[in-house]
Amino acid sequence: KQCRLIGAPVQDGAGRLGCEMGPSAFRTAGIARALADLGHSVTDLGNVSPVPLRPLSHGNAALKCLPEVAGWTAALAGAAYEASAGPDAMPIFMGGDHSLAAGTLTGLARRASDMGRELFVLWLDAHTDFHTLDSTESGNLHGVPMAYATGRPGFQGYFPPAPAHVDPHNVCMMGIRSVDPAEQRALENSGITIHDMRKIDEFGIAPLLRAFLQRVADANGLLHVSLDVDFLDPGIAPGVGTTVPGGATFREAHLIMEMLHDTGLVSSVDLVELNPFLDDRGRTAILMVDLLASLMGRRVLDYPTRSF
Ligand code: ARG
Ligand code: MN
Ligand code: MN
Ligand code: MN
Repeated sequence: KQCRLIGAPVQDGAGRLGCEMGPSAFRTAGIARALADLGHSVTDLGNVSPVPLRPLSHGNAALKCLPEVAGWTAALAGAAYEASAGPDAMPIFMGGDHSLAAGTLTGLARRASDMGRELFVLWLDAHTDFHTLDSTESGNLHGVPMAYATGRPGFQGYFPPAPAHVDPHNVCMMGIRSVDPAEQRALENSGITIHDMRKIDEFGIAPLLRAFLQRVADANGLLHVSLDVDFLDPGIAPGVGTTVPGGATFREAHLIMEMLHDTGLVSSVDLVELNPFLDDRGRTAILMVDLLASLMGRRVLDYPTRSF
């Protein structure tokens, strides 16, 4: 694969400072080397800069840093579109808080539509990030990217016009365990597949994931993986501002990555919400790099690739 590392040091969407240091921490944790060791070609394209701000005011007084996040969204949609060109392209977006997915998802959706393919999204997160600008009570814009990317109303005139939308029927969320009431209402008829922790406990990761991957394969889709640090249990991944107890274990997370690799379907990745200021001697950054390495082909035993 042509791995393209893209730093997205956005922190204005999170409730606290620190995610700006995420791209540096991923580089320090050896992300480029881990990919190169697996035989991939690796180019670090450096960090994206937000487009210039324009003043914006909105009726929801809770909103924080709306012009900043709108500026990042425009820049990242362009960067995602460009970095996803070419048959072996594998853009890897190093966040940065999850608001960056407003840009990456819509830029990648435009690329998919150029190619006559459909974009599917595997959203690994404690949260659904399905608020609109009107419904968010915290005002933290890392809580809205999935609503924007799937074309929920209310973003026009505030966020940039989306280059393309993601079909909610092509989105599968796993690890969900914190949903606000307004999000829950909106999700009910959204078409999004949600595997919350309760479902994972009851059925296990593998059959739930396999069913989604089969749908992607049947549609010859492109698959984007958006991995929020808080998908993981805080005990193994403390370097994040929005910890929620009861997250995915080390073994569940690696299993997902190994199954994804076996399918060969993944065409882009977000690594988001890493807050190095809250981390413990880099362990969360290192775990995220190890998970990416599993996704990109690292295996314990050199058994032949399995079908999924
Ligand atoms: N739903 C909550 C909110 O809107 C939490 C969002 C957390 N999102 C994230 N990307 N960590 O504030
Ligand atoms: Mn998130
Ligand atoms: Mn989250
Ligand atoms: Mn549909």
